[in-house]
Amino acid sequence: MKNKRTVLVTGGCGFIGSNFVRLLLDDYPEWRVINLDKLTYAGNLRNLKGITEGENYRMVKADICDAEAIENLFIEEEIDTVVHFAAESHVDRSISGPAEFIQTNIIGTFTLLEAARKNWLAEGVDDSREKCFLHVSTDEVYGSLGETGFFTESTAFDPRSPYSASKASSDHLVSAYFHTYGLPVRITNCSNNYGPYQFPEKLIPLVFNNSMLGKELPVYGDGKNIRDWLYVEDHCEAIVEVLKKGENGKSYNIGGNNEKQNIEVVTLICDILDRKIGLLESGEPRSSLITFVKDRLGHDRRYAIDPTRIRDELGWEPKVTFESGIEKTLDWYLENQDWVKAIVDGSYQNYYQEMYGK
Ligand code: NAD
Ligand code: DAU
Repeated sequence: MKNKRTVLVTGGCGFIGSNFVRLLLDDYPEWRVINLDKLTYAGNLRNLKGITEGENYRMVKADICDAEAIENLFIEEEIDTVVHFAAESHVDRSISGPAEFIQTNIIGTFTLLEAARKNWLAEGVDDSREKCFLHVSTDEVYGSLGETGFFTESTAFDPRSPYSASKASSDHLVSAYFHTYGLPVRITNCSNNYGPYQFPEKLIPLVFNNSMLGKELPVYGDGKNIRDWLYVEDHCEAIVEVLKKGENGKSYNIGGNNEKQNIEVVTLICDILDRKIGLLESGEPRSSLITFVKDRLGHDRRYAIDPTRIRDELGWEPKVTFESGIEKTLDWYLENQDWVKAIVDGSYQNYYQEMYGK
């Protein structure tokens, strides 16, 4: 019998998934990580630069909707744990093209659940090793808050975008597999992440990149929508705590009590970059690039997480303040401008062919 806990990480070449894979490989050498990723536009092998395949790590290029590939992998690798990140994640893309969100986020999650059910719950299966299916979800399933209040785990779902509706559907499916079949599942609903390796379509890296190029910084609506920001490594550590100490059938809200208006975040990035690398060539501060543009359709006004459960029951608390996290993030982007450039010019999509020759 194998002696390592085998963790299937889906979407491990994306932003949060790659930070999570690195955390497991650095801190949990007793776990073997299988990274399954389709390498969509959001997947980037360079997010895992320096990590090589071996006893503790294997990369599999596949689609989570491909039932045969997933089931074969469950059998071949004797998967004990699934940490499911793979998704279409960008709200604006879900508004302009929802179909892929329904396919990956709902059908893909269903396909993984079925593979887990068939492999973990069938008659005669060795159940001496603990199993866990952890679904990584979002606070957006709860909809939009007014000026007061917080999302708790019992807040009713009220998703407003095709993205959040697809994530809410997948949360419901995961929960249904617990109640119906007794599949050992856990769900996490996290607020907005930021940090290294975030694709430059999301607010913080987009503002970084545009401001480096002297391009306008588009702020939707009046810029007063509020997001509750969490440094990505804190999110990854919270997921490990849920894996280690969480209870099956439960969901855990993850957030850092760090609400900011979008305009505050954009202005702060401009000010930090002005300080770190000087003003624009024109002699103007970067904030002069801020441009208020047409609002996102159905733009949720405010998100705010109540993290009491994960703090009190699992002892997790974020370690990184927004002030230090944003500095670290901008330093990382300044030091890794080649990483951004390869995305902007599209060459990052050749990395798989270059590494694996197919
Ligand atoms: P991302 O878009 O950066 O990465 C998604 C990854 O999934 C990519 O590597 C992509 O190639 C892969 N993928 C997409 N479709 C696939 C498919 N059909 N089969 C296999 N792989 C596929 O996303 P992210 O921001 O890292 O988010 C990861 C997860 O965390 C998502 O489920 C998202 O809903 C959730 N989440 C994100 C945030 C956030 O702020 N980014 C906050 C809370 C929850
Ligand atoms: O809350 C968790 C969610 O956070 C995750 O589930 C999603 O996967 C993730 O993409 C993120 O969703 P948001 O829509 O909040 O993130 P985004 O970076 O797209 O936008 C953050 C805020 O900034 C939002 O209010 C919209 C606004 N915005 C965004 C962009 C890209 C702008 O004002 N201008 C922009 O150009």
